[in-house]
Amino acid sequence: MLSDKLKEETKHNHQALEKALIGQLRAIRSVSEYITLLQLFYGYFGGLEMLMDNAIDDKSLADGTERRKTQAIANDILILGGTVPAIATGYNLPAIHSQLQALGALYVIEGSSLGGKIISKMIQQQLGTDMGLSFFSGYGDKTDEMWASFKKVLDTQCHTPEQEAVVTAAANETFSKFYYWFNKAPVF
Ligand code: HEM
Repeated sequence: MLSDKLKEETKHNHQALEKALIGQLRAIRSVSEYITLLQLFYGYFGGLEMLMDNAIDDKSLADGTERRKTQAIANDILILGGTVPAIATGYNLPAIHSQLQALGALYVIEGSSLGGKIISKMIQQQLGTDMGLSFFSGYGDKTDEMWASFKKVLDTQCHTPEQEAVVTAAANETFSKFYYWFNKAPVF
């Protein structure tokens, strides 16, 4: 099934991104450094969600609105006293022109809520506060359930090797462009 293959086929890009993130995460000691991290996620995820809104068919993803992340990130930034930045555009983003490409991007966005559980704990410990953690806390206790139901959508919408290849390529491009976005952003 595609949901099983995707993990293996995007492993390299996930590891690269995780490695780039984890060092910076560990170094966060102030709210302003954390805001910078949130602004980075906002810019990229905001751009992605804009592209996805134009490519995805609402009927195929009944809980699509619930899965949007941009508003939660903006709320976290604002509650901590930061400003919401512009979103990524153009070559900073992967190509998302079809439903299948949007599913590949959504795989990456949804998967971030799995790593988010670890990230929110780290930030909470390092900053000693629960404020501004709604994005990284994801779906809380519902995280595993939401991940399982997303994987079901993936598997029911992709039937051929060609379709699977489109989703996989979009997921890999979504990871690699985020890696690039992350690395060119100012380091705190
Ligand atoms: C410090 C940063 C990160 C850590 C420590 C981390 C850690 C993890 C862990 C432990 C899992 C497996 C969870 C499980 O199987 O129950 C996972 C899965 C995943 N993460 Fe990350 N992650 C990080 C950042 C990210 C980011 C920023 C993204 C996307 C933008 C992401 C995308 C994914 C995806 C798509 C999966 C699902 C893999 C699959 O089972 O198909 N991760 N991550």
